[in-house]
Amino acid sequence: MPNAKISGIGFFVPPKVMTNEDLSQFMDTNDEWIQERTGIQERRYVENGVSTSDLAIPAVEMAMDNAGLEKGDIGLIIFATSTPDYYAPGSGCLLQEKMKFPTIGALDIRVQCSGFVYGLSVAQQYIENSIFKHVLVIGSEVQSTAMDLSTRGRDTAVIFGDGAGAVVVSASKDDSGILSTHLHSDGAYAKELWVEAPSSGISPRLNQEILDDGKHFLKMNGREVFRHAVTRFPEVIIESLDSNGFSSEDIDLLVPHQANIRIAQMIQKRLGLRDNQIYSNIHKYGNTTAASVPIALCEAVNENKVKKGDLVVLAAFGSGFTWASAILRW
Ligand code: UT7
Repeated sequence: MPNAKISGIGFFVPPKVMTNEDLSQFMDTNDEWIQERTGIQERRYVENGVSTSDLAIPAVEMAMDNAGLEKGDIGLIIFATSTPDYYAPGSGCLLQEKMKFPTIGALDIRVQCSGFVYGLSVAQQYIENSIFKHVLVIGSEVQSTAMDLSTRGRDTAVIFGDGAGAVVVSASKDDSGILSTHLHSDGAYAKELWVEAPSSGISPRLNQEILDDGKHFLKMNGREVFRHAVTRFPEVIIESLDSNGFSSEDIDLLVPHQANIRIAQMIQKRLGLRDNQIYSNIHKYGNTTAASVPIALCEAVNENKVKKGDLVVLAAFGSGFTWASAILRW
């Protein structure tokens, strides 16, 4: 049985920088509050007209170049996003056409911040079962257009940003690659972090009342999300370690979903990790939902923080609630 190994990685963030100071022009907030509560200094926003599949293209090109592959080599596109271009069709199909991939399958994954790790787990099954040799896994998000940039939405709006990351997962005969993946959900908390409308349960799906009430914006009960995140992250990381006979001391690098620096600090403390065992870039990009893990992993690789043979753990928690981990031998 082949191993499923990350053979190429790339990311892209839009050039427009939105600082904390910039946000304070639209809403009652300030740099000190945002940095102290979240660790975020700035995030990136797309220009009007740039959608989630557009943002993914440079990330995919970089990952494909990094893997040394052509479009015809890819067997399947897995596109994780919580901010798809359209209600239908999925962003994976749009990317297939925009990048002129052959008419391969394009599968969208809608599990928000955990989407990329879920996507890796799907790719892993296809590779290990020798169905495909190379699978593309993308996390791409345009969150800026889902933000209420008024004081009403300040608790959520200051956190999220736009960006895209992509990997190629390939069949490998050596002993590196994904060792295991672990997926969870609990829909009892669906409304703690959600976009209420447009909804299939409302006719018409979008109307003036929805717009006036701001139900089309992402809404979050920050305290409740925080409370669950600091429990579920360590739990799912330990699950991945236990399943493979490792302890937290064995981790060379933990790349958590970049949700909030305080959440990362609590994970670090709970697992007893040294500073150099956990990666963070939230100060630059904020929370980019499904894109955050591949963006952070790509930057960690580019900064030589991941070396061949390292034990790398990826973990995510978010809306759903969903949470997941992947443990890899690099
Ligand atoms: O991918 C998973 C996604 N989400 C997360 O991981 C988020 C998890 N949650 C959090 O990170 C935190 O709950 C937040 C950063 C969202 C909020 O921090 P908090 O310490 O839980 O603050 P809070 O919501 O309890 O608000 C404290 C105060 C409130 O004012 P009062 O009632 O004490 O007067 C808020 O109105 O801070 C106020 N506030 C703000 N002030 C300035 C809320 N947002 C802002 C803001 N700027 N942007």
